[in-house]
Amino acid sequence: MKHLVSISDLSEKDIKKIFEMAKRFEEVLERRVKKVPALIGKTLALLFVEPSTRTRTSFELAARRLSCDTVSLSLSTSSLKKGETLEDTARTLKSMKIDCAVIRHPLEGAALRLASLNLFPVVNGGDGKREHPTQALLDAYTVLKKLKSLKGKKVSIIGDILHSRVARSGMELWHRLGARVTLVAPPTLLPGYLPEYAEISYSLDEVSGDSDILYFLRIQKERLSSECLAGLSDYRDLYALTVNRLKNLKKDVLIMHPGPVNRGIELDPEVIYDERSLIEKQVFEGVAVRMAILTLLLSKEGGATLEISS
Ligand code: NCD
Repeated sequence: MKHLVSISDLSEKDIKKIFEMAKRFEEVLERRVKKVPALIGKTLALLFVEPSTRTRTSFELAARRLSCDTVSLSLSTSSLKKGETLEDTARTLKSMKIDCAVIRHPLEGAALRLASLNLFPVVNGGDGKREHPTQALLDAYTVLKKLKSLKGKKVSIIGDILHSRVARSGMELWHRLGARVTLVAPPTLLPGYLPEYAEISYSLDEVSGDSDILYFLRIQKERLSSECLAGLSDYRDLYALTVNRLKNLKKDVLIMHPGPVNRGIELDPEVIYDERSLIEKQVFEGVAVRMAILTLLLSKEGGATLEISS
């Protein structure tokens, strides 16, 4: 693995390695001193051209827990604001001996473009509507800690599939791990092209009773046009996991959301803290999974030595 732009960059071996390594890093995160010298001397650039709380903080923490230095660039405070191209920004970072970059960008293909320069390993932290592979990996890892295997499990992904990079990376990975994927959305929030393995439903109530995992997506207000969605209260009526709907679910269903949640639109606030919700776990596991990804990108093959012991 030279870059992580898309789930399709990962071999089965890579996925297995990431999960195995994340398990070891998770143990580090439970220690009193949550730090190992695995990437000492390395520097990660965080290039976030779109807002982010979880992904950015998670990568920054993951790097620091590995003793990797970080530098942050954002749209408002970098020369990108003055019109500098992504390529020139990347070459500037390369001159400063950056070892790796995580990029979040509103344009589909931005991460691929950066990776294709081959200046340093690139991780896609979300590019427009296209992909968000580290979110998919941390989601699958979080579930596998509970279920051991995803073979034959029914995963329903509910909401704004049209604009969701989380859905695109997620469905691919759930499918590769053996799960059955159902996409649940109003027709206007489904993309024209859908993979042949995905089943489609227009009603949450139709799928909620026999789903093993209910994965809710945020309504991407910033990418939504008025033709896509008539009204948020109609959406809530048909697609939100309300307190009322909780009683129709499997006893051991797993409820997930990548965050940030539009409270009362995708989930009732009480649902976030229901004992079947994995939302806080997803955030916790995200750091361990990203530690594993950074280590694999920057380890032996890439020049550094992997050293997890404290
Ligand atoms: C997602 C994102 O930004 O793609 N959030 C995240 O990374 N945890 C989902 C979203 O914003 O809806």
